[in-house]
Amino acid sequence: MPIKTTKNGWILETRTVGYAFNVNDSGRLEHTYWGVRLPLDTDYPAPRNLKGWVSFSGPGHLTPEEYPAYGGVNYVEPCLKLHFADGVRDSVLQFISAEVRDGEAALDIHLHDSDYPLHVVLHYRVHADYDLIERSVRVINDGKTPVTLERVLSAQWHLPALGEYRLSHVSGRWADEFQLQREPLTVGVKTLESRRLTTSHHANPWFAIDRGQADEYQGGVWFGVLEWSGNWKLLAEVTDFGSTRVSLGLNDWDFAWQLAPAETFKTPVSYAGYTPDGFGAASRTLHRFTRAEVLPHKDTIHKVLYNSWEATLFDVDVKSQSKLAEIAAALGVELFVMDDGWFHGRKDDEAGLGDWWPDTKKFPNGLKPLIDKVQALGMTFGLWVEPEMVNPDSDLYRAHPDWVIHFPTRKRTVARNQLILNFARTDVQDYILDKLDKLLAENAIAFIKWDMNRNVSEPGWPNAPGDPRELWVRYVQGLYRVWGTLRERHPDVIWQSCSGGGGRADLGILRLADQIWVSDNTEATARLAIQEGFSHIFPANTMEAWVTDADAAHVPLEFRMHVSMCGSLGIGGDLLKWTADERKIAAGCVALYKQIRHIVQFGDVYRLRSAAHAFSALMYVASDQTEGVLFAFRTHIAEPVSLPPVYLRGLQADALYEVEGITGTRSGAAWMHAGLTLQIGNMASTVRRIWKR
Ligand code: DGJ
Repeated sequence: MPIKTTKNGWILETRTVGYAFNVNDSGRLEHTYWGVRLPLDTDYPAPRNLKGWVSFSGPGHLTPEEYPAYGGVNYVEPCLKLHFADGVRDSVLQFISAEVRDGEAALDIHLHDSDYPLHVVLHYRVHADYDLIERSVRVINDGKTPVTLERVLSAQWHLPALGEYRLSHVSGRWADEFQLQREPLTVGVKTLESRRLTTSHHANPWFAIDRGQADEYQGGVWFGVLEWSGNWKLLAEVTDFGSTRVSLGLNDWDFAWQLAPAETFKTPVSYAGYTPDGFGAASRTLHRFTRAEVLPHKDTIHKVLYNSWEATLFDVDVKSQSKLAEIAAALGVELFVMDDGWFHGRKDDEAGLGDWWPDTKKFPNGLKPLIDKVQALGMTFGLWVEPEMVNPDSDLYRAHPDWVIHFPTRKRTVARNQLILNFARTDVQDYILDKLDKLLAENAIAFIKWDMNRNVSEPGWPNAPGDPRELWVRYVQGLYRVWGTLRERHPDVIWQSCSGGGGRADLGILRLADQIWVSDNTEATARLAIQEGFSHIFPANTMEAWVTDADAAHVPLEFRMHVSMCGSLGIGGDLLKWTADERKIAAGCVALYKQIRHIVQFGDVYRLRSAAHAFSALMYVASDQTEGVLFAFRTHIAEPVSLPPVYLRGLQADALYEVEGITGTRSGAAWMHAGLTLQIGNMASTVRRIWKR
């Protein structure tokens, strides 16, 4: 029974995790437990019911509330901040009732402001098999006057009291995304956020918290994510009385929402989990859940794709793309993607965005001749679009200059020569929906790469129907509507989320896109760390990784192929320039990838030796543990030196396994505890298959 109702409280249990809270004596929801599942219901602690004051701090400040509002004597980070029509800016949420639903998998807790007609529903869902708890919130205005919402977070996740904790998160920038950071949490608030309209290259709404001693395989880790593709905020707070909590949700920076009488505001969802088995287990939990419950095409093996961007840039036509397609097909590529440059007026990055029909100079007979050619070569066809953008030099902008995000009295800053269409507007959504729907209906397109190449500036919304600061949320809702409707109308299309690389990677977008273009940095040695950071959050089948020519001068092709084979393999180099030898190596790697990709794309990842080292290794193991694949990379270790042993993971201890290239069948326990030593030189790599005998 995942959700149990106790006297004045609830216990939410997954396979291995317990989470509990109670209504305390003052009618507030007091968090009591999050960690390993306890044997007895009576094992879960009772609320502390603090009543006394500690000098300047009252009980409201000292109680770990499940969902604190800003009100009363309380200075911790609140989840809810608002003002009522009469100017009152104080709210105290009191318990009213609870409903357990969906076969005890879901729980709604109804709270009400102590004095005003404001109703808040805390929604919980237990994903028992995935060891995750889901939370979101609905705020309902039961009154007769509007309420202005200033902050509505999705959850506050409380860690066990008085720990000395460490926060893991990812940070970065364009071409350097997903760099893993680890830092102690001390008294105060560590804020991670995006103010850029998208999830951002710079941070990601994910956290993992441990007591400073966890590693990949052992130690308690509390972790969570937010399912949202716009501005978000994460507040990791250690209060002055030593309570640690993570608040996560929509960013309240420049945010406001007018909640009219009888209206409801719903937050995005946050998922969180706990594992005693280290960062690796935390990642695998998120991966299994994302693959099974989030991705649109759950069981689809991703094809090996070729993308023309780095070869031809904007210079695309039937001839240039056909030449690339012929070589790609010969290498074993299954999906040919034409990137930027194909649409009306797109001679370079100064024109064309917004006009989503084929350029008649480059494609006088439309896309069909190229698609026919690609299909005749045995591949499917994919296309690049950037639907949220417009160049001032476009038919769309000339017709609708008011459709972009802007303040009428201020200069419109262009970035990469483009402005952002206001996707909060339904007329803009409908226009783009119509154009892309037509494109997909008229052409045999199997794959779309949806790009987004700038961040917001001058976030104005002239004549907005509500508060113009609703833009941040309504834009993302509009994006989800357009993309979601296209998905419904064209269910077989595979979509990729790109925002100049990994600028929009989150569980919200993964409900629409099966893949993420992780980074515009395609240098294999840099990719190792980027991909490792990405792997903390997202599964390998979502990790689109191309081999290009960016580092061809100093990194062997085989090494570059192996790095990309750790995810969903793609090729993006200028194939016309590849020698016969290089094409042979690439074809061999593509063939090998096709044999192992079901393990990579659907298996469990184990980060054996971090990419922070000059010798790194990772492996994937099929869920039934009958096979696996080991990748190892050596960049720069001075000779002579023997490489450190690699200890495999995830095997059945008492079953027998063989590792390709290493003599002898040994038990899983031996491979995992005695390990193996690889012999590879500098700037070299290896891929070894593992079989259960
Ligand atoms: C940015 C993307 O990340 C690239 O892969 C490419 O699609 C360009 N945009 C095209 O403009």
